[in-house]
Amino acid sequence: MRTCHTVKELRAALKTERLKDRSIVFVPTMGNLHDGHMSLIRRAQNEGDIIVASIFVNPMQFGANEDIERYPRTLAEDQALLQENGCNYLFAPDALEMYPDGKRSQTQIEVSGISNILCGASRPGHFVGVATVVTKLFNIVQPDTAIFGAKDFQQLKVIENMARDLSSNIRVIGEKIARAKDGLALSSRNGYLSPDERAIAPAIYKSLQVAEAEIKSKKYSFEEISERAQQRLEKAGFTRDYFEIRSQHSLKKPTQDEKELVILVAAYLGKARLIDNLCITLH
Ligand code: PAJ
Repeated sequence: MRTCHTVKELRAALKTERLKDRSIVFVPTMGNLHDGHMSLIRRAQNEGDIIVASIFVNPMQFGANEDIERYPRTLAEDQALLQENGCNYLFAPDALEMYPDGKRSQTQIEVSGISNILCGASRPGHFVGVATVVTKLFNIVQPDTAIFGAKDFQQLKVIENMARDLSSNIRVIGEKIARAKDGLALSSRNGYLSPDERAIAPAIYKSLQVAEAEIKSKKYSFEEISERAQQRLEKAGFTRDYFEIRSQHSLKKPTQDEKELVILVAAYLGKARLIDNLCITLH
């Protein structure tokens, strides 16, 4: 695997690959890689010829109260994992390479409607930061295909909508959530959990499974199900952010007889804000 730190270097390398008629699959990340990220790299093997990953801790998607300096940076370990899993190129720019004028770019991409709800309501400006950096990365890498995890379900929807709205010819693929054996969705943020918190954390996935069963039982309204779930999570030691049952495609509030749903949860456990989701199709 070759690591490129500059746009110029990466462009030159990928030009050579394109001349050989090789298709490019792109997996953007912020590093501190784990098996969830690797599931995207492994999926990439089946979707094209050359795999490009990026590691960039994007200042534009962090809020003023979110400590970007604390975000774990583990480049050497990340490079080893990527190499083992068959990645061909790593793009690892510094902030100045991505934002020569400072922390953000003058041009910002906002996917309206979907960006201000759920995680976007709790983290104002977050999805503008994500959509802008992903647009820049798409322009730099110019992949045929890009892969995102369903772990960040709203992010996946923002990128899908953005690609469609901007007539992009990049194929955006969503890969299913990779979980630990006890059900906890793998995340860099799990590293912030104490051993006691880590033992409690799988309750977040359980809350989704219980909600799924309650939806299928048709005994409760969506509001009742959400409230019961939040109360159970609070009892287990979480602080609530949101627990929502939404339409899988629009993320809008569904009608009571909608068939394709997604249950989304965000909750604080100690210092960590954990998110998870579960898609369900009713018959
Ligand atoms: P990051 O949090 O590093 O995640 C990179 C990719 O890995 C995302 O598409 C995310 O959904 C996926 N991922 C993380 N954990 C996963 C899991 N347990 N199962 C499946 N996929 C998982 O998301 C970002 O970075 C950034 O916002 C980024 C898109 C790179 C833009 O800066």
